[in-house]
Amino acid sequence: MSDGFAARVAIIGGTGRLGLGLARRLQAAAVEVVIGSRDPARAETVAQSIGLPARVGQSNVEAAGSAEVIIVTVPYDAHAQILSGIADATAGKVVVDTTVPFTDSALRLHSGRPERSRTGAAVRPEADSAAEQARRMLPGARVVAGFHTVSASMLADLAKPPHGDVLLCGDDEDAKQVVARLVGAIRMRSVDVGPLVQARVLEQLAGLLSVVNRRYKKRDLGIQIAGLD
Ligand SMILES: NC(=O)c1ccc[n+]([C@@H]2O[C@H](COP(=O)([O-])OP(=O)(O)OC[C@H]3O[C@@H](n4cnc5c(N)ncnc54)[C@H](OP(=O)(O)O)[C@@H]3O)[C@@H](O)[C@H]2O)c1
Repeated sequence: MSDGFAARVAIIGGTGRLGLGLARRLQAAAVEVVIGSRDPARAETVAQSIGLPARVGQSNVEAAGSAEVIIVTVPYDAHAQILSGIADATAGKVVVDTTVPFTDSALRLHSGRPERSRTGAAVRPEADSAAEQARRMLPGARVVAGFHTVSASMLADLAKPPHGDVLLCGDDEDAKQVVARLVGAIRMRSVDVGPLVQARVLEQLAGLLSVVNRRYKKRDLGIQIAGLD
């Protein structure tokens, strides 16, 4: 187990790009990690493909129940359904919401496939952010939002040091500190950008970043706060 971060981390949707990139970095930092999936067999296959020990691939609810920190890395379209499935397992725990609420057309933009819109704008079908929706749906959890501007491709390339800051927001200061320590364990810098309401900005910022990635034909750009030592 890592000296820097001693809690077990579950990654919900850990078979996907962001989840797996985070799992690789956490594994490299000797942080205990559990991969969650709608399909436990898929989770186990993916976990073993990156050299994790047997039985760390689990259903999302088992993974959430077995960990102290839970990172949610699922598409916005599945966000509400996945959260309702794990709600009981998150009580009292730190939940990190990474969700960018792209529409289907904006998601195609994000992934580089043909799209209708070139704005890169994430959408908020309701007045608030995906992270605030998570807080409403997980009333017992300590929700922190972050990683919106961290590239899965960048994380997956373990040959290179990670770049960019991890912008974190949340209303529970202790929970934010826990996530900041986790970020430090994977050799990244976290920046506290304020209360959970700032997730509205972070989620939109990810849309902007996807436009810049496209404009410069990149997949792994990040965002860094300048002048902060
Ligand atoms: N990719 C990035 O660089 C990046 C960066 C910052 C934030 N994010 C955010 O992170 C979240 C995940 O993005 P991603 O790129 O990792 O997505 P992804 O590769 O499509 O993976 C998402 C995972 O979510 C699970 N899932 C649960 N319900 C699903 C459904 N109805 N349809 C599809 N998958 C479902 C899947 O795992 P199972 O099938 O195993 O359940 C899948 O592996 C999104 O909210 C995204 O906005 C992504």
